[in-house]
Amino acid sequence: MVPPVPQQLPDAVLIVLFGATGDLAGRMVLPALVEVHRRGLMPDAWRLIGVAADELDDDAFRDRFEAAVDRSEKGLCDDWSQVRDRARYCGGKFGPDDDAGLPRILQEIREELRSETGTEPLVLHFLAVPPAAFAPITGGLGAHGLAEGARVVFEKPYGTSLESFEELDAAVKQVLDEEQIFRIDHFLGKEGVQTIYVLRFANQLFSSEWNRASVAQVQIDVPEDLDVANRIAFYEATGAALDMLVTHLFQVASQVAMEPPADLRDPGSVIAAREAALRAFRPLDPTEDVVLGQFGGYRDIDGAAPDSTQDTFVAARLWVDTERWRGVPFLLRTGKRMAAKEQRITLVLSPPFGPLGGELKEPNTIEIDFAGDGEVALGITVKTPGPDLTYSSGRARLDLDSVPGGEGLSPYASLINDALLGDRSLFTTEKGLRAAFTAFAPLQGPERPAPLPYAPGSWGPEEAHRLAKPHRWMLGE
Ligand code: BG6
Repeated sequence: MVPPVPQQLPDAVLIVLFGATGDLAGRMVLPALVEVHRRGLMPDAWRLIGVAADELDDDAFRDRFEAAVDRSEKGLCDDWSQVRDRARYCGGKFGPDDDAGLPRILQEIREELRSETGTEPLVLHFLAVPPAAFAPITGGLGAHGLAEGARVVFEKPYGTSLESFEELDAAVKQVLDEEQIFRIDHFLGKEGVQTIYVLRFANQLFSSEWNRASVAQVQIDVPEDLDVANRIAFYEATGAALDMLVTHLFQVASQVAMEPPADLRDPGSVIAAREAALRAFRPLDPTEDVVLGQFGGYRDIDGAAPDSTQDTFVAARLWVDTERWRGVPFLLRTGKRMAAKEQRITLVLSPPFGPLGGELKEPNTIEIDFAGDGEVALGITVKTPGPDLTYSSGRARLDLDSVPGGEGLSPYASLINDALLGDRSLFTTEKGLRAAFTAFAPLQGPERPAPLPYAPGSWGPEEAHRLAKPHRWMLGE
């Protein structure tokens, strides 16, 4: 096992959750904080301040906190009443000109923690707010003296184009140093994605094949059966490519594509390796290498424009211009209202040289399923048992949650734990996002293809099959 990053858990932690009454906080962040606590990954001295516009008192916020955690998969923890009491609330508008009373509450709790532990608490601001609020809240942190020494977690999307990314980042950098910034892409926190490192660098079987000599294609496939009707305003403004491709799928692709970091325990070298991979992404060619789609009935959703050209599906062939990956397409696909919900990386291997190489119909595959607890599988060919020399393809699989001694963390809990430790290796960076938006930019220009229709419950437009030739999309075909 790769030794963990040296623990630097502070003795006291104060989490300030902006957007505390919102959907993301309720579904993801609050349950994840309790998961981190339950797993013993919080220091004994930790507190939460929920910040939002709603006028609530501490108890009303604690009720919401409780309801959110109770609804979550893992539910309330055994010592819930003590956890509940750790939460305070601060209601009102917060920005450069309004402090919502936060500095006072923060100071009060800071002193409480100081006297409990004799140390200065780490302050972690978590911005679970719409992107338009990132700059004003960060400006507020600066203006009210709340930024110094703090870490700040930003949700995605951090920018929606190269230009808007640069603008946001410049505003944020007026207040914070890069080292204080933790930009979340929760796909990097998934157990299945984190296992890529170990699978690859701890196993000769995989490390020797992880290059163009053996790999014919890399597929990163994230079909979703989800609808978008309940967040149509966001979707009309965003679309599949911006919501999923330039963010989650590019980041996962960079995890697969990276050169071996000099030291896996050093966040700096992991970050540098991922940034280098992202910089090697060739800007997308929208006419040759991208197929967009829109599911039938999308325009009938209440809130969608009747002539909307928003994409709900994207398939892209990405080229990574490194010696390792020269000529190997990275096929990325995702969409809403597709036939299934899956999250899979597949390395499609070239046939072996030798007597059977030319006869095999199914390629060998290395597969990493990164939904839920994660799974690693191999697609292999064996002799069909029986008298004849014929071949069959089969799948050998390992569920990551069956690994002895393991107990997976949810992506948000994993990333919050890393932020508390100060480990930025699974967060996106300024250079990495700049490179991602640069590679994505052609798809935001005049060459963006029109989305092709596809039937809900299908695998997307027919045209997307072309991108996977001479193979096929390994899911669904
Ligand atoms: C979000 C996207 O970031 O990730 C959603 O905005 C998508 O559109 C979701 O459905 C997928 O997340 P998960 O946790 O199901 O892997």
